[in-house]
Amino acid sequence: MTKPVILTGLRANNDLTLGNYFGGILPMIDMATRSADDYQINMFIPDLHSFTTPIDHSKLHDQILHNARLYVAAGLPLDNNSINLYRQSYIPAHSELTWILDCFTGFGEMSRMTQFKDKTAKIGDAQISVGLFNYPVLMAADILIYGAKYIPVGEDQTQHLEFARDIAERMNGRFGELFTVPEPVLKQHEFFGKEQGLRIMDLQDPTKKMSKSDDSGKGVIFLGDAPEDAAKKVMSAATDSLAHIAYDRENQPGISNLIEILALLRGVRKQDIVAEFGGGERYGDFKKVVAEEVKAFLSDFQSRLAAVDDATIIAKLETSEAAMRVQAGETLLRVQQAVGLRAKG
Ligand code: TRP
Repeated sequence: MTKPVILTGLRANNDLTLGNYFGGILPMIDMATRSADDYQINMFIPDLHSFTTPIDHSKLHDQILHNARLYVAAGLPLDNNSINLYRQSYIPAHSELTWILDCFTGFGEMSRMTQFKDKTAKIGDAQISVGLFNYPVLMAADILIYGAKYIPVGEDQTQHLEFARDIAERMNGRFGELFTVPEPVLKQHEFFGKEQGLRIMDLQDPTKKMSKSDDSGKGVIFLGDAPEDAAKKVMSAATDSLAHIAYDRENQPGISNLIEILALLRGVRKQDIVAEFGGGERYGDFKKVVAEEVKAFLSDFQSRLAAVDDATIIAKLETSEAAMRVQAGETLLRVQQAVGLRAKG
């Protein structure tokens, strides 16, 4: 029996943030280490997705390897065959399946994707590529090519996940059982049992998510930030004028965000932080505690990162990629046969 597949990827177009670390990398590594006996874990680097919006291509190659290093520094075990770490572009079947799925995807359907609409509004017509438009189809191919059932993604990717389900069902309806349909988003949440609403917000504008593609980076803590600089970003985080430390996302988004960050760094509940600091009125003192904790975390993480051995990572990537080419190739052949590109077996 093949094991059910849990799969996720993080884009490699920029240094990852504290939000990616706690919201994406850690839960996935936790899942990988706990469930590798019962599931196949695919943690991959969607390198083809990293230039759907313009980037500096001279940095991409390093960035891809760097992302793999981050996973390892965060604790991803490399010596377990049920855990796969691979680069999307090393398995060409992802791209080939994308093309086939493209031809069954509606233009209107893609035009309605929130992320596409948001990004186009932000970057302006001249920079909008067909790749950006097509992004969700490649993402669906990433998922369907391994028959993945569980896909932990952030809230902003929910619509893309729904599309992966739609296109899988559409293809199955038309050609018979081709694809495993990923579980609906609600089931995903049940499965991962993740506390709803884990969202680290931008320090300067705590009403928006801390984003790795933020332009100024002033409100964003990158995993590669010098610990001193990150501490300074915490010290200049936006707060409010209520002079009261309480968890209230609505009225005190800045302070609530700092509470959340401190709770995550210390591995305790938000209530514990509120119990310790609540009633305190001096935001400056509280910020100092958070800043120190961020600084200590980054120093520790960066020394683990520096100790990561590239040769071991590259060997793991190559082993996983060879295994994935076999699995992906089987799915692609089934689809090629279904649509008439290959003789039926
Ligand atoms: N779109 C995801 C992001 O921006 C990355 C991604 C690409 C992905 N393909 C995927 C995530 C497949 C999960 C499954 O973070």
